Amino acid sequence: MKEQLNALREAALKELETLQNPKELEDFRIRYMGKKGSVTGLLRGMGALPAEERPAMGQLVNQLRQELEQAVSEKAQAIQNQLQEEKLAAEQLDVTMPGKTVKSGGLHPLNVVLNDIIDIFQSMGFDVVDGPEVETDYYNFQALNVPEDHPARDMQDTFYLAEGLLLRTQTSAAQARTLEQRKPPIRIICPGRVYRADEVDATHSPVFHQIEGLVIDKGVTMCDLKGVLEQFAQEIYGEDTKVRFRPSFFPFTEPSVEVDVTCSECGGKGCRVCKGAGWIEILGAGMVHPNVLRMGGIDPEEYTGFAFGIGLDRLTTTRYKISDIRLLFENDLRFLEQFDR
Ligand code: DAH
Repeated sequence: MKEQLNALREAALKELETLQNPKELEDFRIRYMGKKGSVTGLLRGMGALPAEERPAMGQLVNQLRQELEQAVSEKAQAIQNQLQEEKLAAEQLDVTMPGKTVKSGGLHPLNVVLNDIIDIFQSMGFDVVDGPEVETDYYNFQALNVPEDHPARDMQDTFYLAEGLLLRTQTSAAQARTLEQRKPPIRIICPGRVYRADEVDATHSPVFHQIEGLVIDKGVTMCDLKGVLEQFAQEIYGEDTKVRFRPSFFPFTEPSVEVDVTCSECGGKGCRVCKGAGWIEILGAGMVHPNVLRMGGIDPEEYTGFAFGIGLDRLTTTRYKISDIRLLFENDLRFLEQFDR
């Protein structure tokens, strides 16, 4: 029996060496020291021994049991340490590794400038309205005092669509819609895309952007127009900016003006940006024509108003010194990434 015991010890310790994880260890413990385990079996087998041998043998078996229990708990600790180390190694973080760059988008330069413009007019109490890009001939022309066959239509090369429909050539169309929809006092701007059949070059694109403005109320005069545009120009270009009106013609305004601001580059002395003029044209404007008011259902004897149309693309190219308007439409990231970052 002693031999049996020694063989068991040897086999058990040898096997214990090979165990890798807590589950194997637990199986091992049950196999040797559980109720039906081998060591427990030895104790049971002692009944067959002569009575005088039993105490010594019992002691030996208990010794073996303690020895194995000790070995199992040491092994458990060893496995635990091993697992912990593996886990740490797997989770190791090299803080000196270069980070992953996350690409973030940005606003298009046209939107940067447009947002500034919207802020300025909103602070003066203007609402922002929207209008369709596929427009009717009526709102794009007729309601703006340009009847069919009127020579003023030649001022704009129109993309005509189906009967009576076109791509709007001016955001002024939204002005005509607003006159029908709102009651005075009216103070709106309408930013948006407009289309004209122009040849593409450094300063022309068949798609471009305007911001229409419209103010209607009792007693509105050209002084109000000048005040609003001066405020606008000074917020965009700086406090020292001056505004001048030049007489012009638009069918929907009378009188009509073209509006220049002092060149923000040279302050009015004349430079490359303003082509020596000292002034840069930024918009068209005027007092809303009585015919336009009437067609919009507003009595020109009771109300007056002014309107203006700002060219957004020109404003953006001068602000950022962009030499070619086509850059605004090509969506080349190498260009776009230079703004709003
Ligand atoms: N719609 C004109 C254009 O596209 C710009 C314009 C001029 C708008 C005078 C206006 C205005 O509202 O009063 O050339």
